[in-house]
Amino acid sequence: MCGIVGYVGRSDGHGNAGHSALDVVLEGLRRLEYRGYDSAGVAVIADGVISSRKKSGKLSNLLAELEARPLPETFTGIGHTRWATHGGPTDQNAHPHLSDGGKLALIHNGIIENFAELKRELLAKGVTFASETDTEVAAALLGDIFRTKLNGDVSDGGLAKAMQLACQRLEGAFTLLAVHADQPDVVVAARRNSPLVVGLGEGENFLGSDVSGFIDYTRRAVELGQDQIVTITADTVEITDFYGAPAEGKEYHVDWDPESAEKGGFSSFMAKEINDQPDAVAQTLLGRSDINGRLTLDELRIDVEQLKQVNKIIVLACGTAAYAGTVAKYAIENWCRIPTEVELAHEFRYRDPILDSNTLVVSISQSGETMDTLMAVRYAKEQGAKTISICNTNGSTIPRESDAVLYTHAGPEIAVASTKAFLAQITAAYLLGLYLAQLRGNIFSGQIKDVLADLSKIPAKIQTILDNSGPLRELARSMKDEKSVLFLGRHVGYPVALEGALKLKEIAYIHAEGFAAGELKHGPIALIEEGQPVFVVVPSPRGRDSLHSKVVSNIQEVRARGARTLVVAEEGDEDVKAYAEHVFYVPETPTLLMPLLTTVPLQIFALELASAKGYDVDQPRNLAKSVTVE
Ligand code: F6R
Repeated sequence: MCGIVGYVGRSDGHGNAGHSALDVVLEGLRRLEYRGYDSAGVAVIADGVISSRKKSGKLSNLLAELEARPLPETFTGIGHTRWATHGGPTDQNAHPHLSDGGKLALIHNGIIENFAELKRELLAKGVTFASETDTEVAAALLGDIFRTKLNGDVSDGGLAKAMQLACQRLEGAFTLLAVHADQPDVVVAARRNSPLVVGLGEGENFLGSDVSGFIDYTRRAVELGQDQIVTITADTVEITDFYGAPAEGKEYHVDWDPESAEKGGFSSFMAKEINDQPDAVAQTLLGRSDINGRLTLDELRIDVEQLKQVNKIIVLACGTAAYAGTVAKYAIENWCRIPTEVELAHEFRYRDPILDSNTLVVSISQSGETMDTLMAVRYAKEQGAKTISICNTNGSTIPRESDAVLYTHAGPEIAVASTKAFLAQITAAYLLGLYLAQLRGNIFSGQIKDVLADLSKIPAKIQTILDNSGPLRELARSMKDEKSVLFLGRHVGYPVALEGALKLKEIAYIHAEGFAAGELKHGPIALIEEGQPVFVVVPSPRGRDSLHSKVVSNIQEVRARGARTLVVAEEGDEDVKAYAEHVFYVPETPTLLMPLLTTVPLQIFALELASAKGYDVDQPRNLAKSVTVE
């Protein structure tokens, strides 16, 4: 939540400028806007003076403000795009916040938990506040320390020193970036439990909430640890802890290019990302098995003997990632015979869960920064469990704090509603499940080879669904005035139904509920009335026992009560036709792998319906891509 960018460059001294700070910061904000779009703001330093502009609403409002009231050309700047926590999305509450008589500007991502107490202290000292934000309190604290504790002396660290002292007082989760007019060539940043990455350039350096903040300029990035402060100038990057002790960052190469974070001719990032899914799955499978059909997950640097001892798996995640976890449960239990629970990360650590050193905790997170998931992983580690993270974002916090990581290679996911990351998470979870089964000898190597062969066919099958989505799109457009849509599924179709409902809620703002089809008669069927649309995800007729016929009965039951039945079924399933108003077929595939196909029509449906309503599908209201506060 909240996107943060910082930049320091320099002129070459001959009137030829490096990059303009404002250009770099605005480009970074454009790429980071998915993290929050309640307001945006920038501050630059020119001729020893801080100038700032900020506007509520999307970045375009700030750009219009900058047209009307331009900022000077300069080489030091910071920028922020906000997802509101304390204080509504107003101009006043937008960042940056100024202090020290307008000489200091600060931006913030996170929540300062003790802001009320600090504010009382500062008010007692005569400090006044113009906003309702916790950020302004942090800015005031930093300004007060700089001015009254350090007497504005910049010879001994100045702003960096003040930041250390301020961070020693702050509680909660935060990334802070600050500039001061008296140190015009410096940006100082601090992080605790909130993301921040450094970008290394030639004669210029960058800061960003993630690498997309500076991907147009450099692929060299540096990971920071928790409770660290980083000071960048055009030529230097210095890292310390909150007490000034030097610390090291870890440099890594960013392996995706700026084009992969562009729309590439699609009307929205979400449309592009849905269309990227064949590639996302293929990339996630790539290089993870050998020609003999054996999994080769050497990247999982975790003691194999310990993995063999695992007697319980807990999958932790939130939202869409948790639905990927539910699919994983079905697959892992089937292949590995290890009891597997899936739990929403925010519930997990508050219920005194039972874990020990034979418990494997698998966290799933696209961003790798979701605070609830991070806290749950930390809790699990404290209890002695082994932790593996399935993550899409290189260098992010959750994989860094886990014992091992299996990266998904979906590429950057910009649209707030997750699509390709979901399929990549499921794919990675299958690989992990198969790997555990291989280690423990739970299934024959021939079976693993067969599943891998089936997985390798998935990208082409997704492409078939995408290529034949015309009728589904037409139906979605015709349903733009619906008030409620229900989704039913069973077995691995159940999390798919939940995901279909979540997508519709998120981007089309339509009431949508997903149910396990078996629950229908235990309550939800009371919701069915004439014309109620119900999506039903039907298991393969070739699948388990009588599940197919049970779900077909469910279709009949809701139809008999007036529902409009919209069915996602496997190619060749003739039984559903008699009871379905519309059938959307997906190619044949083994039951456990079905979610990689059956999810796609539901994503397309939500996208098309929301687009028909004229909504911004990439930036749905009230949401942010990366939920970095609890
Ligand atoms: C829904 C969605 C969210 C995320 C959830 C976890 O479309 O994107 O539900 O799945 O916030 O985020 P990550 O995967 O970044 O931990």
